[in-house]
Amino acid sequence: MSGVYEASAEFVARAHVDAAAYEKMYAASVADPEAFWREEGQRIDWIKSYTKVKDTSFEFGKVSIKWFEDGTLNVSANCIDRHMSRRANQTAIIWEPDDPKTPARHITYAELLEETSRMANVLKSLGVEKGDRVVIYLPMIPEAAYAMLACARIGAIHSIVFAGFSPDALANRINDSKAKVVITADHAPRGGKKTPLKANTDAALLHCDDHVKCLVVKHTGDQTTWIEGRDIDLKQQMAWAKPYCPYTEMGAEDPLFILYTSGSTGKPKGVVHTSGGYLVYAAMTHQITFDYHDGDVFWCTADVGWVTGHSYIIYGPLANGATTVMFEGVPTFPDAGRFWEVCAKHKVTQFYTAPTAIRSLMGLGTEWVEKHDLSSLRLLGSVGEPINPEAWNWYNTHVGKGRCPIVDTFWQTETGGHLITPLPGAIPQKPGSATKPFFGVKPVVLDPSNAQVQVAVETEGVLCIADSWPGQMRTLWGDHQRFEEAYFGQYRGYYFTGDGCRRDADGYYWITGRVDDVINVSGHRMGTAEVESALVAHPKVAESAVVGYPHDIKGQGIYAYVTLMKGVEPTSELRKELEAWVRTEIGPIAKPDLIQWAPGLPKTRSGKIMRRILRKIAENDFGSLGDTSTLADPSVVEELIANRMNRG
Ligand code: PRX
Repeated sequence: MSGVYEASAEFVARAHVDAAAYEKMYAASVADPEAFWREEGQRIDWIKSYTKVKDTSFEFGKVSIKWFEDGTLNVSANCIDRHMSRRANQTAIIWEPDDPKTPARHITYAELLEETSRMANVLKSLGVEKGDRVVIYLPMIPEAAYAMLACARIGAIHSIVFAGFSPDALANRINDSKAKVVITADHAPRGGKKTPLKANTDAALLHCDDHVKCLVVKHTGDQTTWIEGRDIDLKQQMAWAKPYCPYTEMGAEDPLFILYTSGSTGKPKGVVHTSGGYLVYAAMTHQITFDYHDGDVFWCTADVGWVTGHSYIIYGPLANGATTVMFEGVPTFPDAGRFWEVCAKHKVTQFYTAPTAIRSLMGLGTEWVEKHDLSSLRLLGSVGEPINPEAWNWYNTHVGKGRCPIVDTFWQTETGGHLITPLPGAIPQKPGSATKPFFGVKPVVLDPSNAQVQVAVETEGVLCIADSWPGQMRTLWGDHQRFEEAYFGQYRGYYFTGDGCRRDADGYYWITGRVDDVINVSGHRMGTAEVESALVAHPKVAESAVVGYPHDIKGQGIYAYVTLMKGVEPTSELRKELEAWVRTEIGPIAKPDLIQWAPGLPKTRSGKIMRRILRKIAENDFGSLGDTSTLADPSVVEELIANRMNRG
């Protein structure tokens, strides 16, 4: 087969799973999930073992997902304590700071236990108990890992807010989760610049309950404001706290974390993951998809503010007793060779990043890669969006030197871990395809026009999953009804991913992107409605419609149509003002790439904006606008086409 890449015989010989094993195990996992997961559940340590394995229903109105329900465990103990007998002095986390002149830190499992315990004791001293929520708004520093594991240790539920989010976004998440504590730092250095996290937190807390305590990591040492009685110096408290904290026995279905993500409405959704099933799934996918072996050094370049960081920087690797790299910086600081310098410096064996990073580095030339010794690498990974074949080939040739399998992992905040991915020693790769389902995952392709399951192997449609897997989200925080409607309402009996896909004659899946109002900007998920609500909150904006459009580096860019209030002049200053406005309302990742002034928007007679048309114009593909006869005023379309911003 041309365009198909197989792992070397040497790789296959050592792999956890080869082709024959994949076929056999996959068949077993879907034929008898109960038996399959009963055994796989034993990968982690249970305080009280489970007798029940799977109790799940996708029936609309009665959706309920429970795994290993009567088992008890502690996630922090699984990620730390259980490794102490063999790995106390092994490095758990390699911390690579933003500035390469600052020395990296190697944190052993013994140190991780002590620091996590100290932080857990600080949280306890503030009255944080099992089930309480703690919001974490930190840079990529070891304290972020300690904070997650400290919460897990005492049964508190963490909710990480990416440090690029604005005070408003932070306040909404603190309020929605009713957090008792927020953990932040003075500043977050990234790419040589600093984000004022403490100042952002101060601004956020103006909109929150007065009782919320603020733990501050003095990381850069810069001056910040300090509110006595509310702000607490976390490092100082940790130094005073006891170095050991016993862990709490948790039910398998007790929540581990909430992670807010974008949906198709304006309000972000609080995705809830629980303890037992999530950890089993994160650990198993980390070991098998990345073919992790003892002694490897695993690097996932994501931020812990995203699910990728949760599952593949912290929980999966640490549950497996791995050495995981935590990187504070960006790929292009101080130069475009930083990723490769770090790989060479720490002898990274598995490297996992997003296509957007590869595309941006591709444009800067191969000399940045060639400068560094990448001979330690054995496997490469991709996540967050479809990887285009050019980027795949560049990654394969220049980074992997043609000898590292590439795992293109398709999954979501909601899925906890990989759903569709090549297993490197088992499934030959085709550039751009996420290939085949992971164990226990039953993908189905539905025809969106009639919700029928497509039986032909070669087909196209929307991607749903027919049965539960242990890493699946359980609910939306405080809104189970919205959970059912968003994921199980449209295609009854199935979990709807929100993605379109194609299945080829070999049964390989090719994800074609979101079919809802979610866009994927540089691998970050953004709801168009969120950006719209931010824009219309500006006093000069009357109305707005936001769509995605193809962007060479980011995958998708944000294209905003804006109708101004009567009498307001559309100027380039106002355009800048609106960009800055969205940055402050949501965060820099939501800044529109293109803003088009729209005197009118294409609406049906009932007032519904016809986004299909706006998408086409934004894509510069207005030759086939389809039926516009239902528009209240078809002339607005001509105007929008004439003044379109994307002519590429
Ligand atoms: O559209 C899919 C895309 O990212 C969405 C999930 O985004 P998020 O919840 O932020 O999680 C990202 C990291 C797991 C999906 O609905 N996506 C993710 N991975 C891939 C992908 N699209 C194509 N190929 C992938 N490998």
